[in-house]
Parts: sequence; C-alpha cells; structure tokens
Amino acid sequence: MKFSIVDKKIDDIKADLELIFVVDKNLKHKFIKDEKTFKFTNYKGDGVLLLSESKRVYVPLSKLGYDELRIASAKAYNAIKALNIKSIKLNSYVVKCQKLSFHAIVEGMLLGGYEFSKYKEKKETYSLKEVIFSSDEFNGEKIRPDDAKDGFLHGQIMANATNFTKDIVNEIPEIYTPLKMAQDAQNLAKELKNVTCKVHDEKFLAKEKMGAFLAVNRASIHPPRLIHLTYKPKSPKKRIVFVGKGLTYDSGGLSLKPADYMITMKADKSGAAAALGIIKGASELELPFEIHAILGATENMIGGNAYKPDDVLISRSGVSIEVRNTDAEGRLVLADCLSYAQDFKPDLLIDMATLTGACVVGLGEYTSAIMGNNEELKAQFKAKSAKSGELNTVLEFNPYLKELVKSQIADISNTASSRYGGAITAGIFLDKFIKDEYKDKWIHQDIAGPAYIEKAWGYNQAGASGAGVRMNLYYLQALAKEEK
Ligand code: BES
Ligand code: ZN
Ligand code: ZN
Repeated sequence: MKFSIVDKKIDDIKADLELIFVVDKNLKHKFIKDEKTFKFTNYKGDGVLLLSESKRVYVPLSKLGYDELRIASAKAYNAIKALNIKSIKLNSYVVKCQKLSFHAIVEGMLLGGYEFSKYKEKKETYSLKEVIFSSDEFNGEKIRPDDAKDGFLHGQIMANATNFTKDIVNEIPEIYTPLKMAQDAQNLAKELKNVTCKVHDEKFLAKEKMGAFLAVNRASIHPPRLIHLTYKPKSPKKRIVFVGKGLTYDSGGLSLKPADYMITMKADKSGAAAALGIIKGASELELPFEIHAILGATENMIGGNAYKPDDVLISRSGVSIEVRNTDAEGRLVLADCLSYAQDFKPDLLIDMATLTGACVVGLGEYTSAIMGNNEELKAQFKAKSAKSGELNTVLEFNPYLKELVKSQIADISNTASSRYGGAITAGIFLDKFIKDEYKDKWIHQDIAGPAYIEKAWGYNQAGASGAGVRMNLYYLQALAKEEK
C-alpha cells in the first residue's frame, strides 16, 4: 500500500473513492457532503455507509484519539478492500496532533488488513493500492507534508513489524520449530541494516550449564536453539536487551495440559516472536540504541525422556530449581536466558513471555502485565507506551507472595504454593535470576492475554496480535526522543 499527501483540495484529487470519518456522529461538519442521502438512508453516523453513486464511504470515529483512529481506519479498510478500486482519498481534518494521527491511520489500515491465509485454498487479492491525503487546511492550520510523510513511514514500520510477528505466531507447530525460528532470525539479520545474528545449539547450552532450558527441551524431537540478534547503530546511546520466551509448542510436558487448554499453545512462542519484530522495527526506525534479542526456542513435550515433577534442575546461574509442574516451563527457559542476557551488561533488560494463565484470568485477554522492582521504570514504561494502543498494567511484587515460591529441597520452586497471584509469583520466580546490579534495570512483561485470541477485537484479527512489538517500539521511540 502506498500512502501519500498532495497539496490540493480534496475535490481536486483524482481517486476512485473518498473516505470520510464521521467524528462523534457529527454529520454537520463542513467536509461532510451527502446530507440528503443521509436522510434517505436514515444514516445517523453509526456504522459504515458506502455510497456508490457519490463514490464516498462514511466511517464512524468515536472520538479523536489515536486508538479510535486505528480502529476506524481498520474498519474503513476492511469495508472497502474487496471493491474494484485502486485508490482512495481522504481529508487530513481528523489529524489533531499531525504526525501521530497519520501514523495511527496507516497503522490501523495495515494492522486491520492483515490476513493469515497460507492454509486457505482461496487467497484474496485486492486491487486497492493507494491512499492519498489532501493537505487541505483546517481551522486555518495547514498540514505540513513532512510531518505526514514521517507519520506514513513510522506507521508502516510499526505495522509491518507487528504483522511480521503475527506471521510467526500464527504459523503451525509442525512447521515452526526452534530451527525454523533460527532460520527466520538469520534471514532477518541479512535483510536489515546493522543487524547480526548468532545461533547457539544444544552443545552451547550444555557448555553454558543451562540445565533449566535443556530440561524443558528433553522430550522434544526438535533440538533447542538460543538465538541472539544484535542491532548496533553507530554510537549507540544505551544497550537494551530483550529476552523472549520461544516455546514453539507447550503441551505442558508430563504435567500435561487438558485438551482444551492445549489449543493455541503454538502461540507460546509469542515473546520470542515479538523480540524479532522489535529488532526489525528498531533497525528500520534507526533507533539510536544497541538492541539485543535473546530468544529461548524449544518445545515442551512428553516422552520417556521428559523432565519430571520432582526433578531438581541446576540453572546457569547456579540456583537450583525444584520442578513441581512441568507446565511452568517458560520461567525455566527464561531463567537461563535472563542469566545469559546479563553477561551483556544491559542498561535496560526486558523479557516478554506468554508466561501464565493467571495473568489472563486477572487482567483479561486484552492487557499485558508489567512487573519489576523499579517503580519509576514501570510507570515510565506504561506512560511512554500508551500511544501504541497496546494495553498494559503494572502488577506489584510483595514479600508475602515471595514466600510462596520457596522450596523444601531446592533454592526455589517452579510453582507457587498457592494458586492465587500466579502471574506475580511467576514474575517473582524470574526475579531470583536477576543479579543485584540489574534489579532496577529489569522489566518483565507477561503478554499471555493479548498475544493470541480466538476472536477478532479492535483492529486485531482472530489469532496472533503481535503483542509486545508496538508497546516496546513506542517506548523506545519515546526514549530516543529524550536522548536528542
Ligand atoms: N504457556 C503457558 C501460559 C499460558 C496460558 C499462556 C494460557 C497463554 C494462555 C505456561 O507455560 C503455563 O502453562 N503456565 C502455567 C503455570 C502453572 C503450572 C504454575 C499456568 O499458567 O497454568
Ligand atoms: Zn506451560
Ligand atoms: Zn508455556
């Protein structure tokens, strides 16, 4: 899709269709032109109205906000994508804060238009290729084309990075193995500027004494991989390390999941997939930070060779872990990956994982949890990621919950002694693997809710949403602005 802005009045622009957003059901706005037809069709500003005669489509926009604009743009795109048209035009009047609103429209259309049709016999192709904005003035203010162009570029980068992550998460477990993830990471490094990739195999994991990570992999026929991507621009201002849970399938292991709960567990690689999307976005945005992505890729399966409840594992950091439930495998993989990540002396360390069902129960399917020891860092992350439209909320550690992960036989247990507070006790487990000097530099993100949903919501389709990509990229972009 091509997005452009031209210095012409809307009526002087040639396009196959005009898109008009109806803000807050206001049908009296000066850019709204079909009042007579509204009477005839009894249109009150609810729902999409396509007028083939006048070649205009009206789409409701509940208010002038970034996410509302994304939702309306997705709605508009999906209402017209199948028409036999090549181009649409629209006025810039919905653009309140210029740059970001262009950005939001582009994101809404590209995110809303995503389809995963690989396994469908019928693959749709659409003729719509061009979105043209008029720079017409509004309230005496003229849109600056450069701001619009910045918005187009950033919106496309954000949406493409998110859709790239969705493709990985949606891919089936038979195809998407740890080796496939490693292959994808290497290809990504080849395509992107300033990105390199190292893939470490099971021998490396053994040499690094990653006893927790290796245990999770034991019953899988697919070998594990620790994948390490680095984006390094010239004179980076900070070093930021992302760690992603890359369970290409989570059957639960010997603590086997019930059949209904196993469905969707191809999406247990969402943390790692988000880290890949972040590297893609960071490189394309040319962010001024050195950014690492460390992905722990493995399956969690059953078999004679499987690790067991009652086992005690020795992690890379030397901390011993009592296994009480083999379905709490993500924290085991992350324990070793987080230990490894700290060797790179990060200024900021962020892990992303579909870690707990408890997080979904607590926060609902649309919201990620943010945890860590640094109040200011968590609050800043929340504030600076807000415009991304991704929902997140801070969950607090406390000393009483800390008691619950104690073990009689080892240094820590992989499950808490109470089923209450499971998202937080999982975060507290990870904290055990964060060294003192990084305690305040670490954020844990449980993306179990929004990473994969079986029904469509907002501008997201059923399936993967690319959770984690935009909230982190928006955060990094805001940090970059502060550095200037
Ligand atoms: N991958 C799951 C968590 C999950 C559940 C993600 C639902 C997305 C949707 C994780 O490995 C898991 O199974 N966690 C257990 C931990 C428990 C055994 C302590 C859980 O949440 O039930
Ligand atoms: Zn599990
Ligand atoms: Zn899992």
